[in-house]
Amino acid sequence: MPQTSRRTSILTESVIREMSRVAVQHNAINLAQGFPDWDPPAALIQAAKDAMDAGRHQYAVTWGSPELRGALAAKLTRFMGLPVNPDSDLVITCGATEAMMVAVMTVCDPGEKIGLFSPFYENYLADMVLSGAEPVLVPLHPPQYRFDPAELRKAFEGGLKAFILCNPSNPCGRVFTREELLQIAALAEEFDVFVITDEVYEHIVYAPHRHVYFATLPGMAKRTLSCSALSKTFSITGWRLGHVHASPEIIAQARKVHDFLTVGAASPLQHAVVTALNFPVSYYDGLAAEYAVSRDVLLGYLDQAGLSYTRPEGSYFVMVDISHFGYASDIEFSHWMAKEIGVAPVPGSSFFAPGENRYIRLNFAKKPATLHAAGQRLLRLKK
Ligand SMILES: Cc1ncc(COP(=O)(O)O)c(C=O)c1O
Repeated sequence: MPQTSRRTSILTESVIREMSRVAVQHNAINLAQGFPDWDPPAALIQAAKDAMDAGRHQYAVTWGSPELRGALAAKLTRFMGLPVNPDSDLVITCGATEAMMVAVMTVCDPGEKIGLFSPFYENYLADMVLSGAEPVLVPLHPPQYRFDPAELRKAFEGGLKAFILCNPSNPCGRVFTREELLQIAALAEEFDVFVITDEVYEHIVYAPHRHVYFATLPGMAKRTLSCSALSKTFSITGWRLGHVHASPEIIAQARKVHDFLTVGAASPLQHAVVTALNFPVSYYDGLAAEYAVSRDVLLGYLDQAGLSYTRPEGSYFVMVDISHFGYASDIEFSHWMAKEIGVAPVPGSSFFAPGENRYIRLNFAKKPATLHAAGQRLLRLKK
């Protein structure tokens, strides 16, 4: 038999989704995979039913239905403060997952280098395996998850084609300050590098932290591919709606990659989500406020259990230090925790460059009742 491709042997199964299966196996509360355990707004569900009834069953325009691009452009303009032309600056994708893949394939040829921070969201390395790009990792140093400007510069000096920036960050919950972003921007300018942002948690940010869209920094609009999704903002991770925003020159190329990868996101859902994009600003404030409550519930239990963690500034993840438990590996600890404590985490090593196994990641995109139930179990971790 011929062999399957080399890239399939390099790819490993997602640890996050594996931990979801482990959670089911041990009847553990799943704080591994990040998705909300509540329904999206009722108006949105109704809009999806209406779109089905209205016969929106065939392909939409490949780069996104005009109604969706129009509503999204208005929303992006409102939050980013940049003019966004729905006809030339956007491509609608199947979630941020496809948006990131499209962005990487649009700017990189096989063998070219992409810089990214470690810890990172696990899909980025898979994007590079699939596209043939080579990762160059720059550490974010725990527990504050700050970068060392000298280490960042070294990565750029090594010849990057692009830099991937996840902000707010999964898994470490950092919201990069304007000053930090300006340092990245200066290097991108000096070394003439594209910046691919993943901003899926743009609306899940906790005061006093503020999200700064990288594309809004001086000179950055022309070299930034801003990727995001409606998945987290409207609690519709299963609808698979995301987008890339960039200059018309870049988007013209990205649309081709997207077309041949997937043709397009589900047409009736593209139509329906316009309803959500027209929600008032108070919707977004409410979302962040609800997540702040969930965060405080979980962190309260971590405090009671005497666990050290890094307080998230954004996103719905928290990195917890497990080094004092004395396990040889975070993977072993995570399986033990799912089985014996009844709460499934993600072993932190799946987000880091090799060598870091002192952390687990928990997510709090769960109803307070779920978090209280998980929290009661976590108290058993107290010495
Ligand atoms: C940082 C980050 N990017 C992308 C995704 C995937 O987004 P989507 O479901 O829209 O493809 C996730 C999901 O957890 C994420 O955390």
